[in-house]
Amino acid sequence: MSRIGIVAEQPGETRVAATPQTVSKIAALGYEVVVETGAGAASALPDAAYAAAGALPVDRATAWAADVVLKVAAPTADEIAMLQPGTTLVGLLAPAFSPDLLAGLAARGVTALAMDAVPRISRAQSMDVLSSMANIAGYRAVVEAAHEFGRFFTGQVTAAGKVPPAKVLVAGAGVAGLAAIGAASSLGAIVRATDPRPEVADQVRSIGGEYLEVVVPDEQKEVSADGYAKATSAAYDRRAAEIYSEQAADVDIVITTALIPGRAAPVLLTADDVAAMKPGSVIVDMAAAQGGNVVGSVAGERVVTDNGVIILGYTDLPGRLPQQASQLYGTNLLNLLKLLTPGTDGTLVLDLDDVVQRAVTVVTGGEITWPPPPVQVSAAPVAAAVEPAPASPPKAPMSARAKTGLIGLGIAALFLVCAIAPPPLPQHFLVLTLSVVIGFYVIGKVAHALHTPLMSVTNAISGIIVVGAISQLGSSEPVVLALATVAVLVASINVFGGFAVTRRMLAMFQKGAAK
Ligand code: NAI
Repeated sequence: MSRIGIVAEQPGETRVAATPQTVSKIAALGYEVVVETGAGAASALPDAAYAAAGALPVDRATAWAADVVLKVAAPTADEIAMLQPGTTLVGLLAPAFSPDLLAGLAARGVTALAMDAVPRISRAQSMDVLSSMANIAGYRAVVEAAHEFGRFFTGQVTAAGKVPPAKVLVAGAGVAGLAAIGAASSLGAIVRATDPRPEVADQVRSIGGEYLEVVVPDEQKEVSADGYAKATSAAYDRRAAEIYSEQAADVDIVITTALIPGRAAPVLLTADDVAAMKPGSVIVDMAAAQGGNVVGSVAGERVVTDNGVIILGYTDLPGRLPQQASQLYGTNLLNLLKLLTPGTDGTLVLDLDDVVQRAVTVVTGGEITWPPPPVQVSAAPVAAAVEPAPASPPKAPMSARAKTGLIGLGIAALFLVCAIAPPPLPQHFLVLTLSVVIGFYVIGKVAHALHTPLMSVTNAISGIIVVGAISQLGSSEPVVLALATVAVLVASINVFGGFAVTRRMLAMFQKGAAK
């Protein structure tokens, strides 16, 4: 049975690598868990809570001497010296930016696993610490902006006058951006968002934002195959710059999250854009640590410009919600440990043939194993390389004249049927026609995302068939009886199936409900 040590972080890092909740689950994997005294203090997690969950509080040296050391931030040189050769260290190691750290860990003879190197693939979602931290950071960026902003986010009509809603622009609708859009729109602000990946437009709209499309020729559009953006084209940047200039003069809050992996953050808001903003406006530059999306932002600092715009370049946004961040980080780490403990016997087994385990292993056996071989990931289906189909002329929209002609033809046909058909056919036909028209307009106004729940609920309409068929069950005609029986059976399946699907979908939105 291996011993897992949860160590205290350096001052300034409020998160901790495991919480009492995750500790009990780590112990269930067969490990002995020890925690450095005071490790959870900054996350309001007392030693007693860890002890109650099964982790023995120990001194610093004992925690660092464990077989597996769990940490949040990268270790300092002094901390590396406390690791025993052969230990496995897990933490946020930023391997791409820390060659010295990797060299130090390799020289110490430890195995190092970088939580921030988990690939963005479906199988590894439960370990994707960058996403869970970015989600918290996006939410917190809105809270920080709201704290600095001198007005409501929501619009109000009060006896003392009308209050307009705040306008928020979110640049970059990835994980952090979507969290910021959701938080700002739930506070009642008008939220707009940009992103070079057009596939995020629906996601932005579904959480109450307006997607500002940067219209560029088709061949210069960004289509992401891996959930990350590629470098934007010059045409895109030119058009986007115009949009940012227009928006800067109009909005009250800007939250920038634009990131292209492996590159410095793209500059989106120029000094002129910032100068055009109203005094009291707030910018949160979430990419400040990577160079910043906004001219004038300083990593880790609050800056007030000459025209009274507040620019926040905080780089510790997840750590400003330490309990939540520790819980999610701890859960990501627990999921990694589950993967590494196939026997549930407290023995850590590293399988370097597994893409996820290979991707996170940055040092092993005294060797630096970063970067890993590229992982084929797909957030959006990549278009298959097929021969281009012969160009067909684009479908022209129907002209107003043709539309009027068709409607006229339909009305004439309706009158004809009503005039010549024997009763009660005309009445039935009229009801059918009206249903088609009403159905077309009603369903046409329902958002695409709601079509499945709509269909499952409308299955209940099959109840009419059930009632009709039941009324025929007393018939002496064997054919009618057989048809009525089949109708009752099939329509009942439709009704109950529809409700079952609806119930399942609703359960997905209820806290604590089984998926
Ligand atoms: P992500 O990769 O999920 O999202 C980045 C988004 O930016 C993508 O949707 C991408 O399409 C978009 N983008 C790329 N180029 C753009 C451009 N020119 N204009 C507009 N959008 C563009 O990344 P995630 O996880 O959401 O992180 C976003 C940023 O937040 C990163 O810079 C990350 O380092 C930072 N971050 C900051 C924290 C803090 O405490 N300040 C904490 C966590 C993350």
